[in-house]
Amino acid sequence: MYQLAPSILSADFSKLGEEVSAVEEAGAHIIHIDIMDGHFVPNISYGPAVMKSLLGKTKLPFDVHLMIEDPDKYIKEFVTENTKYISVHAEACVHLHRTLQYIKSFGVEAGVALNPSTPLNVLEYVINDLDMVLIMSVNPGFGGQSFIPSALDKVKQLKKLKDELNPNLVIAIDGGITLNNVKEIVDAGVNLVVAGSSVFGAPDIKERVKEFLSL
Ligand code: DX5
Ligand code: ZN
Repeated sequence: MYQLAPSILSADFSKLGEEVSAVEEAGAHIIHIDIMDGHFVPNISYGPAVMKSLLGKTKLPFDVHLMIEDPDKYIKEFVTENTKYISVHAEACVHLHRTLQYIKSFGVEAGVALNPSTPLNVLEYVINDLDMVLIMSVNPGFGGQSFIPSALDKVKQLKKLKDELNPNLVIAIDGGITLNNVKEIVDAGVNLVVAGSSVFGAPDIKERVKEFLSL
């Protein structure tokens, strides 16, 4: 079993509330919130106001993925009653350990996201402080890109570290996930699957969520 986190980056923003309700009704577990600053990644998405517009409209927890430089400056803005996880990029944090403690000081679970080219060894001295590792299976910045196959090997390596050092760690994957590759990915040890375009780009969003969850 795994949890499905649709990414609203690919939703129709003119009817965001309706689309989030659709994935919720169909059984999605978490809403993935992609925050891009135009510096850390070559795209700008949306800010905390858009995320907060969903408060009271969905009971689903939020999984906030900060693709921003100097995340400490903005973490507080993303702490809400729905916020379950906040992940920062290892590549964007000079003092990663401090940033993780800062996230946890709000009672929020802390995650680290790794770009496709970043090795797992950057986690060596923080793995016990982590609730989640978000393996990027595309270069962050855009929805609708193709899955980078080396991410699968990274998941398998991370699963070994998890079993040895932090059995409660959530292994999440983000980018290029479709109905065709999700099974192999979950079999490799992923607990939380982020899917944007393959959910919100589907002709019938609810049907697509059900297809993901029936695999
Ligand atoms: C990419 C984002 C993803 C994105 C995934 O930078 O972090 O969460 O929404 O989109 P798909 O599932 O279309 O690759
Ligand atoms: Zn993301």
